[in-house]
Amino acid sequence: LSPVIAIDGPSASGKGSVAERVATHFGFHYLDSGAIYRLLAYAAAQQAVAWSNADALADIATQMQIKFEHGQAYLNGEQVSHHIRTEEMGKGASEVAVHPAVRTALLQTQRNFRQAPGLVGDGRDIGSVIFPDAGLKIFLTAAVETRAKRRYDQLIQRGDHADYALILADLQQRDLRDSQRAVAPLKQLPDAVLLDTTDINIEQAVNIIIEAFKK
Ligand code: CDP
Repeated sequence: LSPVIAIDGPSASGKGSVAERVATHFGFHYLDSGAIYRLLAYAAAQQAVAWSNADALADIATQMQIKFEHGQAYLNGEQVSHHIRTEEMGKGASEVAVHPAVRTALLQTQRNFRQAPGLVGDGRDIGSVIFPDAGLKIFLTAAVETRAKRRYDQLIQRGDHADYALILADLQQRDLRDSQRAVAPLKQLPDAVLLDTTDINIEQAVNIIIEAFKK
């Protein structure tokens, strides 16, 4: 089995940027598991299926065709990256993600990303549920205010509207939902390395992970 580096942590902790760079460094594949939940939330919205409808969501999860290529996300052959990167779909993702049937339906989809020469996966349960045998597990976090500021800067840079107070409140709500749900709640595993990026930048975090994996 190919090696796996699991990077889990709360919203806007920098998981995506960090995981992608670590993957590039080692020439590994990259699994953005949050994007899969976002794709599901988007597919459901398109079919007018409520994010609370666990059974219908699980059906969609089993049937939807997803693909990631050159950093773009595809749903049933259509490129939908900009549709799933909205705050609305971030919220939808965290709502569909609470259903056990949904998480089970997406388990194998995620495991299929494990291919030679290796994989870097980021999410909430990569090290706990998807790849419990990962060779390196990182819990990437930062103070909620720092994460809110980073998300704010990201949206402004993209030319989107952003409201810091709203983003902060939303992150706090998302943290609560992710950590208190019954299935695969977000938490630091005993065998994970804690990496707090409140006072370090992306590049420093990437280097720490690369060094830790080499050991
Ligand atoms: O960073 P942010 O939470 O905004 O986005 P994301 O990583 O794309 O994940 C969106 C949502 O999907 C999260 O808030 C989680 O509720 C959910 N998720 C999950 O439950 N399990 C994962 N492995 C990844 C994401």
